[in-house]
Amino acid sequence: MPIYQTATFSSSDAEQLGAVLTAREPGYAYSRVDNPTTAALASAVAELEGAESGYAFASGMAAIHAALVSLVSAGDRIVATRAVYGSTRALLANVLSRFGVEVAWVDVADIAAVERAVASAPTRVLYAETISNPMIVVADHEALAAVAHRHGAAYVVDNTFASPYLCRPVELGADLVIESATKYLSGHSDVLAGVVVGSRDDVAAVRDVQIDTGGTLAPLAAFLVLRGLPTLAVRMERHSDTAAALAAWLERQDGVRRVVHPSLTTHPQRAVADRQLARGGGMLAVELTGGRAAGEAFIDALTLSERTASLGSIHTMVVHPPSTTHRQLDDSALREAGIAPGALRISVGLEDVDDLRADLERGLAAAASVRAEPVAPGR
Ligand SMILES: Cc1ncc(COP(=O)(O)O)c(C=O)c1O
Repeated sequence: MPIYQTATFSSSDAEQLGAVLTAREPGYAYSRVDNPTTAALASAVAELEGAESGYAFASGMAAIHAALVSLVSAGDRIVATRAVYGSTRALLANVLSRFGVEVAWVDVADIAAVERAVASAPTRVLYAETISNPMIVVADHEALAAVAHRHGAAYVVDNTFASPYLCRPVELGADLVIESATKYLSGHSDVLAGVVVGSRDDVAAVRDVQIDTGGTLAPLAAFLVLRGLPTLAVRMERHSDTAAALAAWLERQDGVRRVVHPSLTTHPQRAVADRQLARGGGMLAVELTGGRAAGEAFIDALTLSERTASLGSIHTMVVHPPSTTHRQLDDSALREAGIAPGALRISVGLEDVDDLRADLERGLAAAASVRAEPVAPGR
């Protein structure tokens, strides 16, 4: 696909320009509205997701913002998963709330509790992540879509941790599905992008928000994501194989309280994962027994894995959420978000599994060398 590196497209006459700009005729006029390279990406992702239509954005957050704003107005209510990416939590709690949108938080693994929350007041949107950031909670899309639709709400899903290779939420009842294409879709951590897919009408409403708010994807960035798509399947297979091997190994190591990966029989939503995910994916969570200090020592000792906040890359990336992405939260706020002080999130890359195991061994040895944090009474 060529990179249409232009802001503007000429029309043959005023009549045609007007028709293109008002979508009465197909075509291109201005790249904030549409561009052939970004449109090719959007339709490729829609096809991968089994959706009618798609639209591309400058980032995953721009996509989530436009998807939600296409559905809610002042006075509306969103019921959202408590296990949610930090910036999405902030968008809901700090931004949309200032415009009169009410947000109620739920545990999406407890379908009865979700139903009670959705039924307790008129709800416009039920929002979940297929595999949650950072603690790998797996949402049961069929059950959640049924709850949303029973009560007249739209079911909106962030599928970033799974990618359409592992899960296609539209086929399970989701109305709008968002991907941060910064992650697995592009795969090489060299570009920021997002995509929303769904029915033609729902995506048209999302597109209208985007046109007037401007979170437009640049054509070069769209090209880079398109270049990642043909290798998505082989990358996801390898990510899944290596993550499953490391998860099984980590479960047997001293200093590890808990490992969360959909491939493990100990995963709390293992039955849902078996039904809904093609493979376990590349994301795993680990809880160290030594608390915050052990988590920090662990990531400081790594020599192969990147210490960074992103995921879904060919490179392995390890985060200690309590000292990085969730550092504003004290231990009790972390617990409320389901994140232990010794939690690590590992995005398993394509490196050799033995090299990665050796790197994690270095981390575990460093974690063991720091004194375990005293356990507060009542915990
Ligand atoms: C689950 C999830 N959704 C959305 C985003 C936002 O994507 P972006 O950074 O492309 O805006 C992220 C970023 O880490 C994420 O982890």
